[in-house]
Amino acid sequence: MKTGIRAKISALGTYVPPKILSNFDLEKMVDTTNEWILERTGIRERHLVEKGMAASDLAVGAVRNLVERHGVDLNEVEAIVLGTVTPDMMYPSTACLVQHKLGLKNVWGFDVSAGCSGFVFALTTGAKLVESGAHKKVLVIGADVNSSMIDYSDRSTCIIFGDGAGAVLLEPAAEGEDVGLIDFVHQVEGFGGEYLCMPGGGSLNPASKETVEQNMHVVHQDGQQVFKYAVKKMAEMTERVLHKNGLTGQDVDCFIAHQANKRIIMATADRLKMPHEKVIVNIDRYGNTTAGTIPLAMMTALEEGKLKKGDTLLIASVGAGFTSGASILKWAF
Ligand code: UT7
Repeated sequence: MKTGIRAKISALGTYVPPKILSNFDLEKMVDTTNEWILERTGIRERHLVEKGMAASDLAVGAVRNLVERHGVDLNEVEAIVLGTVTPDMMYPSTACLVQHKLGLKNVWGFDVSAGCSGFVFALTTGAKLVESGAHKKVLVIGADVNSSMIDYSDRSTCIIFGDGAGAVLLEPAAEGEDVGLIDFVHQVEGFGGEYLCMPGGGSLNPASKETVEQNMHVVHQDGQQVFKYAVKKMAEMTERVLHKNGLTGQDVDCFIAHQANKRIIMATADRLKMPHEKVIVNIDRYGNTTAGTIPLAMMTALEEGKLKKGDTLLIASVGAGFTSGASILKWAF
């Protein structure tokens, strides 16, 4: 159904837990160096939860920040779409737990499991709820507690990931207002599942003494395979969405890529011939927060004055699955 309605992001909030794990801390835990991590990934430090803090708590923190910044009335929210691969538990969904913790009434919602593309996929899903005319206010959240599934003796994974969350409010753009989600391209390619996964705890390998002994409840990653795919796919998806809309990298005012590795972000920017000052990088402070990276980077872009009302924003992600996506938005505030 085409309604002519466009969904705009009208508010943004973020949350990271206070505890910081620096590269120097990691030097004391595994055989690595600050120089290696900085050079290979661009990461200096990441935030980690204290025991007992779950994805729903990060999500609630991000929504509360959104309310503080924008004075949103949460009673008007009608749906929650939440991207995460570190839900509080297998079920109920983290969206349900967030609804309860925030005390929202007359709202429905669900989780989106798309790895590092969790926020991008959730944003499109939420936008469709608005564009269809079904809903006027939809919360889209990306929240991950990666530290809950990292083996802190595996130097190739523990250096990358951090914990964090971001939330946006979607609502219909006013008539004639040239803002909101313009278009997207998304894809999944399940052959990549084996290269980045947590094999234990699902219906295939339910939790048991054996699965714990075999270290199946932590992230297993073939970094090189993921890296190669990410560099190729992020360029392909961004070029596809731009081309589909008659645009090039020169038409983009601000580029926010999923923050997994600074080398992947810059390779994509260079392929699009995008000046580096238009590229948002905050991986040095947060590491890879999976579904949290894009809203966290939106906040960085606003703080650095690199994202303003009316700007054309390109967002892109590649993640476990493999999942990938790129979307074009006109920024609304
Ligand atoms: O959001 C999606 C999630 N994940 C990603 O996007 C990750 C994509 N992959 C990457 O970012 C990179 O592959 C890593 C950062 C994970 C690894 O960097 P790399 O440049 O691909 O390193 P590598 O795996 O090719 O390893 C090169 C060397 C190896 O030593 P040898 O075999 O050459 O002696 C590794 O054992 O670096 C070693 N190494 C390390 N050395 C110091 C691996 N991790 C570390 C470390 N510190 N933390």
